[in-house]
Amino acid sequence: METYKANENRYSNMAYKRCGRSGLLLPPISLGLWHNFGSVDVFSQFIQIAYTAFDNGITHFDLANNYGPVYGSAEENFGRILKKGLGVYRDELVISTKAGYDMWPGPYGNWGSRKYLMASLEQSLKRMGLDYVDIFYSHRPDPETPVEETMGALADIVRQGKALYVGISNYNAEQTKEALAILKEYRVPCLIHQARYSMLDRWTEPDLLPLLKEEGVGMIAFSPLAQGLLTDKYLDGIPENSRAAKSTGHLQREQVTERVVNKIRRLNEIAVSRGQTLAEMAIAWLLKDERVTSVLVGASSVGQLMDNLKALQNVEFTSEELQRIEIVLSE
Ligand SMILES: NC(=O)c1ccc[n+]([C@@H]2O[C@H](COP(=O)([O-])OP(=O)(O)OC[C@H]3O[C@@H](n4cnc5c(N)ncnc54)[C@H](OP(=O)(O)O)[C@@H]3O)[C@@H](O)[C@H]2O)c1
Repeated sequence: METYKANENRYSNMAYKRCGRSGLLLPPISLGLWHNFGSVDVFSQFIQIAYTAFDNGITHFDLANNYGPVYGSAEENFGRILKKGLGVYRDELVISTKAGYDMWPGPYGNWGSRKYLMASLEQSLKRMGLDYVDIFYSHRPDPETPVEETMGALADIVRQGKALYVGISNYNAEQTKEALAILKEYRVPCLIHQARYSMLDRWTEPDLLPLLKEEGVGMIAFSPLAQGLLTDKYLDGIPENSRAAKSTGHLQREQVTERVVNKIRRLNEIAVSRGQTLAEMAIAWLLKDERVTSVLVGASSVGQLMDNLKALQNVEFTSEELQRIEIVLSE
């Protein structure tokens, strides 16, 4: 493979968004490596997805310690991609990783202790061949560990220079409020909250999004396509090689119900009337909300990523379109 040279026009078509009240700008679409970059996937394919992302202005790549499968392999593979050429652009990249879910056996490889977070980040840096990550997250709240300990570990990680910013993920509004207050006391503000948000899952709307806006914290929406459901992929059954068909995928066959498929069909009609694919419309629908800093997509091919990027060409909705969508979603 030739040495990678990034597209010189990579910044021409991307309007970056400020992450909360911070100095950091993020692309409205970021790339997540939860699936498709593990040891079960094909290197020559996913390196092209990463290059295509960066060539099109996607500067933010999101990982976690246990992304793969196998655990750790997405970080290892991303390290290889950096080594192959992307790493030349390290100062143009925002790389995030997380700890909070099951990673290694025994009492120190899960949840939110200082012991786990510190050790896990050390391992993540080694796997990726990095001195620091841009954002380090507590991946989920831990009901058994004092939140002061988890947030204290995040603050110290920033002070040690191992992460430039910190974030939290999967914390509900109440837990978020508490975490933000503690981080403020440590004078390490929370940069960003990473939460599941899509047309099919709107739990963030009543309390979390207003809180983040008030507190000046950015929001990055994960699984914006509901793992592929909000695309035209499942309109006529479950295709081979799709996430729902794969044994390593987190989308289960049982989630592709007749009721969901009916909804998707009707959403697809609205998308077509807007001149978009359903994937494009689902991403645009999230980005119409100025509180959403970035939409964190996954992609199993370069074609999917390019389709998702097209969402940026039209993120405006008429009130009639929004109403039509609302009717489908509320049924
Ligand atoms: N913080 C957390 O707890 C958490 C949890 C989950 C995810 N995340 C983050 O969010 C990222 C994205 O999550 P996700 O992968 O679930 O996001 P997603 O964008 O909702 O789903 C991605 C999947 O949808 C399908 N797809 C994507 N674009 C498509 C297109 N244009 N047309 C048809 N199908 C398309 C592909 O599935 P096929 O493989 O079937 O082709 C792809 O793998 C993750 O990588 C991770 O960084 C974070």
